[in-house]
Amino acid sequence: MTNSILTWDDVDVDAFGIEPLKIRHRLHQSPLFSDEMLATLIEQSARENYYVNTMDITSQDRRTRREGETGDISGQDALDAVKNGSIWYLLMQPEQVDQRYRELVDEIYDEMMRHVPHFRANRRKLSILVSSPKIQVYYHCDVPGQMLWQVRGTKRVYVYPPRQPFLPQPNLERIIMGEAHEISLDYDPAFDKEAIVYDLEPGQMLHWPLNAPHRISNHDCINVSFTTEHSTEATRRAFIVNYANGVLRRSLGINQLSQETAGPTYWAKYGVAGAYKALGMNKRRNLKYKVDFQVDPTGPKGIKDITPYEFSK
Ligand SMILES: [Fe+2]
Repeated sequence: MTNSILTWDDVDVDAFGIEPLKIRHRLHQSPLFSDEMLATLIEQSARENYYVNTMDITSQDRRTRREGETGDISGQDALDAVKNGSIWYLLMQPEQVDQRYRELVDEIYDEMMRHVPHFRANRRKLSILVSSPKIQVYYHCDVPGQMLWQVRGTKRVYVYPPRQPFLPQPNLERIIMGEAHEISLDYDPAFDKEAIVYDLEPGQMLHWPLNAPHRISNHDCINVSFTTEHSTEATRRAFIVNYANGVLRRSLGINQLSQETAGPTYWAKYGVAGAYKALGMNKRRNLKYKVDFQVDPTGPKGIKDITPYEFSK
């Protein structure tokens, strides 16, 4: 197909979702990711639909990560702050500002489902990342299926295997149960020996196995990227098993728990997870953030300090 989003010729579709894959795409040319559109999204995104962070670009110390807000500057000023500062914007649910992002995410997944047998993606989501030169995203894992699409600039992406010691089962369970933040995973520089490392360039997309830990650092240039998220029958079953394992580990103190997603054990866990949720026994961590800076293109690192306040999601 001449108009397809991805270049499928050399894609190993059997490895899709199982091994890390880098696939070529053409969305770096889409007008939906122009500076004008990004400025509009920054200006018009509701407060609950964006995060802006700053963090130390030289260490892996996640305590240096801070939460901020755009304030009342223009989207273009915010982009200038990104260009010259140390900040990282995550713009979620862009379809609430412009319906074309909804059409785009459906176009993406419909095309994948035509090319990859048995791939059925639900709960599709697209979020946009606009980030400063050299800024990093600390070692973490994501709960849903994930893809990272590069639009402008270059970033180095380290992808680690989704197993011990990179992803301890109890930590994954706490993240899945909503009790811990995704960046609560512990990083050890020795892990890097087993990472697959990519320098992701405009027109390239990465898709890694479910829950595979990863970390990212931008090259010395502004980066525009977006992520797509989805769930499938396989990711849904993995979620249920890890959730039930979290319950069993907690309430019965069981330590050896299989992550099998089929057969009678799976169905027993399906029951455990369902009952636990139905009884309202899961006390989701109330996600509270302390916002202590505003984006400011004239400030050092593109920010200015403000009186801190709490923001909950
Ligand atoms: Fe991620």
